[in-house]
This record gives sequence, structure tokens and C-alpha cells, in this order.
Amino acid sequence: MTAGNRLKFALIGLGRLGSIRAKILAFQQPRIELVGVCDTKPGTDKWAAENLPSNVKYYSDPTECMKSSGAQAVLICTVTATHAPLIIQAFDFGLHVICEKPISVDLIATKEVVEKAAANPHLKFLVPFTRRYDKSYRTAKALVDKGDLGEIHAIETTCHDQQDPNAFFVSFSEMSGGIFLDVGIHCIDAGRYLLDVKSGLQNPKKQVNRVIAMGQQAVYGDLKKFKDCDNGWGMVEFANGKILTTYLGRTLTNGFEDTTRLCGTKAHSIITGTSNVEVRDQYGIRYQSVPDAFTFFDATFLADLAEFADAVLDGKSMTCEPEDAFEAGKICLALQQSFRSGLPVYFDDEGMPILE
Ligand SMILES: NC(=O)c1ccc[n+]([C@@H]2O[C@H](COP(=O)([O-])OP(=O)(O)OC[C@H]3O[C@@H](n4cnc5c(N)ncnc54)[C@H](O)[C@@H]3O)[C@@H](O)[C@H]2O)c1
Repeated sequence: MTAGNRLKFALIGLGRLGSIRAKILAFQQPRIELVGVCDTKPGTDKWAAENLPSNVKYYSDPTECMKSSGAQAVLICTVTATHAPLIIQAFDFGLHVICEKPISVDLIATKEVVEKAAANPHLKFLVPFTRRYDKSYRTAKALVDKGDLGEIHAIETTCHDQQDPNAFFVSFSEMSGGIFLDVGIHCIDAGRYLLDVKSGLQNPKKQVNRVIAMGQQAVYGDLKKFKDCDNGWGMVEFANGKILTTYLGRTLTNGFEDTTRLCGTKAHSIITGTSNVEVRDQYGIRYQSVPDAFTFFDATFLADLAEFADAVLDGKSMTCEPEDAFEAGKICLALQQSFRSGLPVYFDDEGMPILE
């Protein structure tokens, strides 16, 4: 393909994320043309008609959308449980695929998708972990690559969502795979992005030795029914000795917070997704909070879609490989299992978590 071509895209799933993505695809990507959108929920056709260019075709059936929209690539923004079958179908239609995290709540389905991607090397496949496209994380990564922090031997990550009075994520727990997968995959991937987890391995297939997780239902007791928690702690020991810890929560009252501490032999560095606006008033000195992670998406979604278009049209490389989504998914599913069983989860010589 020449650089002047625009990549024809279809978007499946017009929910919270998909509606933001659709506008970016339609209006803010010079190398992309949005040709079709799809959602199974009644009323989304009206949203599409009111918010997208008139030439974007609407479908209520994802198969029909992939088959008839004329798209060369598809962006999947549906609920997590539908990702794996839609990705496989898209590959079968010969489409390049971007899919929101995680690939699946199931280990076998995740593996099948990654193997399908590997069997179709002419088709690009991207799971765009937001932090890899965030300016602060990229700055920290450049410090790591230059060696300014020395050897990064450990990473501490935290991610805290604001309390939700409607407790939406409680009923959603079964579909989302629970906190260690739904939220934790961002932290685990950020850790893998910034830690060198591949050097010094005796067995290149096995990146992780063991994980252990603990958790509480501090506010949302009903999560117990779904074997999930609202505050969870996880530790990952990589096979080359690097350590990653993560603290995930859904009970903060001020807003959304996200931090990553890089522990290097020459220096530590702390990345924070919390707003840096200081307010000094009659209550004292404080920082304004951001309500949720959506605050960061406008910039990261511009970056990941532009990168994907360059990868398909010009053969350029991408920041996340399918293997990254697989490795992060395996670790998160192992953490969830460890929380549920109260026992550590070890990884075998094939690099798979032993989930009994
Ligand atoms: N990158 C991030 O930081 C981030 C943040 C939030 C959510 N996510 C992921 O994005 C995905 C979507 O999240 P959301 O909050 O937008 O969900 P949502 O429930 O708001 O939207 C999902 C939409 O998909 C539609 N849908 C479901 N099954 C479908 C199918 N088979 N075909 C067509 N449409 C279908 C639903 O009708 C709904 O409109 C989830 O997998 C979630 O894990 C990623």
C-alpha cells in the first residue's frame, strides 16, 4: 500500500469506549477512513446517525459488518466476553484487528487468539494497552532505555478507581473477569513495558516463576459472590529475578489515581496519572483529582490508532506485540486464581500458569 492510501476501518461496539473511538476514527485520523460501525443494542443506530458522517454504514450484526462494510481493519470495543470469537472471525475475513484489552477472561481462548494471530502474520493484531501510548510512560521508558535509572530491578504499580454508588462493576464482575484482569492488566502490562523481563532467561518460554495475590471486599461485600474483591494486591516474581507489585482498588472517594514507581539501581522514578493542578483555598492546599481514566483516553487513542495505521500501511513496528497481551493476560488470570485459592500460582516450563 502507498502512504497516500487511507485504511478503511469498521468499529464494533458503540458503548462508553467505542463512542469515543468512533469519533476519533471518523474525524481525527488522516490515514484512516471509518466505513462502518456496529452494535447489537437498540438505539445505537440513532447515536451513529447523529454523531458520525453520513457515509458511515451502521450494522446491528457484527458478521454482516465485517463482510459487507468494505473495511480492511476492525476495531473491537465490545464487552470482554465477546472479544475472542470476534477476533477469530475478523481474521477469517482477512481483516487487520485492534481489540480492547483483555483478549479474554479465559486462558485457553486467549491462547487460541494469539496462535491465530501468529498463523496470520500478514494481518496486524494490536491490543493497545493505554499506558504504552501515554506521554508520561513514554518519557519514563526513554529514561530506562538510556540507562539513567540504572538497572530496573522492581516496579510498584497502583490503580484506583473512584467508588461507584451504582456498583456497576459488581454485576459486571463475571463478564469482566474480576479486578485482577479488568484493572490489573494495565498495571501488569505497564510493569512488563518498563521492566526487562526477557534477559537472562534459562528457558525463554518461561518469563514468570510465580505470583501471589490477596484481596478484600472493603466496601462492596457482594463481590464475594463473584469471588472478586474491591481492593487487591498482587506480587509477580519474574524468572530473571525482577519483581512487580500491584495494588488495585475500586473504592477511592476523590477520583481516579494511577501510579507506577520504577526502582532502579541508580534512581527511582515515579509516574503518576493524577492531575498536577494545585488548588489553594479556604480548605488548605490540595490537588484536583481526575474523575476516571477516560481523561487520558483522548490522547492515547489518537496515538494507538495512528500507530496501527502506519503499521498496516507502511509496515512500521508497533509498541505492543500480541505476545505482550498474552503474557499480561496469563499473569492476571494467575493472580485472580491465587486470590481465590489463597495459594501462590507457579508457572510451568511452557510458560503457562498452573491453574488447578
Ligand atoms: N483501554 C482501556 O483503558 C479500557 C477502559 C475501559 C474499558 N476497556 C475495555 O473496552 C471494552 C468495552 O468497554 P466499555 O466500557 O465501552 O463497555 P460498554 O458495555 O459500555 O460497551 C460495549 C458495547 O458493545 C456492544 N456489544 C456487545 N456485544 C456485541 C456484539 N457481539 N456485537 C456488537 N456489539 C456488541 C454493547 O451493546 C455495548 O454498546 C471492554 O472489553 C473493556 O475491558 C478498556
